[in-house]
Amino acid sequence: MSLKPLVTIRSVLLSDLPVFFQHQQDSQANYMAAFTAPNPADLSAFNAHWQSIMNDPTVITRTILADNHVAGNMVSFVTLGEREVGYWLGREFWGRGVATAALTAFLHQLTTRPLYARAASDNHASIRVLEKCGFTRIGTSMAFAEARGMEIEEVIMQLTAPST
Ligand SMILES: CC(C)(COP(=O)(O)OP(=O)(O)OC[C@H]1O[C@@H](n2cnc3c(N)ncnc32)[C@H](O)[C@@H]1OP(=O)(O)O)[C@@H](O)C(=O)NCCC(=O)NCCS
Repeated sequence: MSLKPLVTIRSVLLSDLPVFFQHQQDSQANYMAAFTAPNPADLSAFNAHWQSIMNDPTVITRTILADNHVAGNMVSFVTLGEREVGYWLGREFWGRGVATAALTAFLHQLTTRPLYARAASDNHASIRVLEKCGFTRIGTSMAFAEARGMEIEEVIMQLTAPST
């Protein structure tokens, strides 16, 4: 993969799921994301989750490609009437602008505003990605983080303006 890979997004194919499952095994990524699956190694729970979200018309899922390699995924779902976005990349793709480029592309397809995102308050990389895409902090809340086995603070981010 090049230093600044070409980033595109497309619909999720079933053949992408084993790659996402591999990404979910990364303990550093789980710590960062914090609000994760209770047991990331549980393949049947992973498959049931993806089957359920891919069959849910209110959930929008995308595969992120970097130089045509499956780099991760992006998901948008509705919680308590508010549409949120989340994402996860394989470690080998971090630090090259892939998440920022993928979210920028996604925000052209997903035009609901306001749009929300939540990140652990110490997930500076994710918060930075959101800020670069125009999200601003509107508050914090406490929530149970499976990956840390405790309640932690999360930042609530909001995007109001149309994507540029
Ligand atoms: C968070 C994540 C998506 C970031 O992906 P990425 O492709 O590396 O992000 P980008 O390269 O587009 O941008 C990262 C930005 O954060 C900055 N950054 C990275 N690590 C940082 C840190 N520890 N502190 C502050 N800023 C940091 C980068 O410098 C960059 O900002 P810049 O362009 O102004 O220099 C990726 O690390 C990941 O998938 N992590 C595991 C899952 C996760 O946390 N998902 C989000 C849940 S809310």
